[in-house]
This record gives sequence, structure tokens and C-alpha cells, in this order.
Amino acid sequence: MVAIHRRPSWTIAESLATPEAAYLNRRSLLQAMGITMASATALAALPGPARAQEADPTADLYPAPKNDRYTLDRDLTPEEFNANYNNFYEYGTQKEIAAAAQQLVVRPWEIAIDGLVEQPMTLAFDDLVRKIPLETRLYRHRCVEAWSMTIPWAGFPLKSLVALAKPLGSAKFVRFETFLDPAMAPGQNSFLYPWPYVEGVTMAEAANDLSFIATGAYDKPIAKQHGAPLRLHLPWKYGFKSIKSIRRISFVEEQPVGLWEAIQPSEYGFWANVNPEVPHPRWSQASERVLHTGERVPTLLFNGYAEEVAGLYAGMDAAKLYM
Ligand code: MTE
Repeated sequence: MVAIHRRPSWTIAESLATPEAAYLNRRSLLQAMGITMASATALAALPGPARAQEADPTADLYPAPKNDRYTLDRDLTPEEFNANYNNFYEYGTQKEIAAAAQQLVVRPWEIAIDGLVEQPMTLAFDDLVRKIPLETRLYRHRCVEAWSMTIPWAGFPLKSLVALAKPLGSAKFVRFETFLDPAMAPGQNSFLYPWPYVEGVTMAEAANDLSFIATGAYDKPIAKQHGAPLRLHLPWKYGFKSIKSIRRISFVEEQPVGLWEAIQPSEYGFWANVNPEVPHPRWSQASERVLHTGERVPTLLFNGYAEEVAGLYAGMDAAKLYM
């Protein structure tokens, strides 16, 4: 892979990323979240996370070689921040769902591929993850709630999975679905949400090199709270598009309706491309809070990835592209 050396447009001042500031803010955030040394130790002693990770049959795949095209000129969010500040409504509507998410059973895990494909198939995750070479990419992650992180994902480009699926020419969109199992995900007992979680992209978006299936993070298999065993990450879109714990991938002709769009179409649309100039109906999107430093920094068009993706939307009706 050829390394591309250029200064990304979203580079921020180094003063926003000093280790000391990170450390101090980390401590205050963990305190604000009520995570003290004692509870962190108790968390680590839970039967799920640590030991399940050790026993993971894909652990040998990490760390995956780094793809130098996707690096960052700013700090990575420390793992303990990402691991304890999540959106995963299947396990609760608050950010502290890490312990609850350990109920997610990730083996065996099968992914159905269906719809407009040459041959529908079901793939075992442990086979799939060895079919496509893994790589590490440092990506930005911007939530519609106006906070952001940076994450060292490992996984493979979505387009490699699309190639494996062999979609027909008539497919216009890729629709993703999370598991549906209220016994293993208590949040799915709530009738307020139209489970399972669904999201979708156009075939052109799926073919863009930035669209990524993450199977690992922080040099090991992806933690359950991040959407084990595989989740999507679309770094130029608001985070709600990046669906977790995928069970079904369908190639379809009709534009998929995501869970958030189904609930509140006036606030969450299909495209959800990051744009600082288009406010959410209830708050501004002009800036974002960097999670681990607490700093507020300007938000960039397409989350700083305009060069890679702006072409996808040339000539389209701009109004709907950014919500
Ligand atoms: N996928 C599922 N299945 N359920 C969810 O609640 N939340 C979304 C997205 N994918 C969500 C999901 C939202 S709103 C965001 S911001 C990101 O996951 C959060 O990812 P993270 O917890 O790994 O940071």
C-alpha cells in the first residue's frame, strides 16, 4: 500500500493534545462518570470482558498492519474513555453501558448476506475475519450529539465484503441489521424503539475506501460495547450511521430506513454527513467536544474527510445531505 503524506485539513493545534491535559481530564471525566479506582477494578474482575478477550479465537489477528493512509495528527482517545462512553441502546440509553454489554454473546456469530446477490449466504464470523486481510486505521468519530473521539480500528474495507457478497447490478443500497435478541439485550424490550437497529448506505458509499468494517480496536478484538464482533464505521457521517454487532447485510433497491430515521425523521435522515453549517434542529453542529480533553474544537465538513467523499454527493440536493 502506498503511503500518502499530506497534512489533513482537520489537523488541530498540538496544544489541544498534551498528555498532561489528557491525563487530568481523563481523571475528572472518570470521576464525573462515577468510575473510581475501586469500581474500575471491580469491572475488570467481572467474568466477561477480560477473560472472554483472552479466549477469543481471533486474538492472533491483532495488532493488524497499519494503513498509513489513515493516520491522525492528534491524540488517540485513550482506550478507557472509549470503553466507558458508548451509545449502544440495546444495553441502555445512557453512556455507561460497558458492563451491561458484556451480556452480548458473540460466539457463534453468523452473518446473513441476502437480497439482490448472486447467491444468498451465511458466513460464520470466525471464517469471514480470516478471508479478508485486516488492517489498522486511525479514524475520527463524530457523534450527532456533538462529541468526538479518535479510534484505532482494525478490520477491512466494506468494499471487500461487498465483493465477496457478489451483488447484482440492480442493487442500489446496502442495508445492515443488528441482532434481535431481547434476552441478551435488555434494551430491546423497550417498545420505544423499532428493533432491530438498522442502517444503510448507497452502493457508491459502500465502495468508497473509507467505509470500514471494524472487527478490532486498540490492537485486539473489538470490545462488546463497541459492537462486537463486527460493526460499521463511516467516519465522515454522524456516528449513528455506524451500526454495531451486524447480523444481516442485504442488498436492496429501496433506500433503507434506519432506526433513528424511523423514530424521528425530522432530526435524523438517511445521509447524516457531518456539516458544521447545518444545525441539528435542537442544537448547533458548529463545534464538538473532544471527549478525552474536554476541549471544544470546530467541526469540519464531512468530519475532515471531504477530499475522500465530497465527490459522492456531487450534484445532489444539498438540503438533505447533512442530517
Ligand atoms: N449500533 C447499534 N446497534 N445500537 C446503537 O445504539 N448507536 C450508534 C452507533 N451504532 C448504536 C449503534 C451511535 S448513536 C453512535 S454515536 C455509535 O454507535 C457509538 O459508537 P461507540 O459506542 O463505539 O463510540
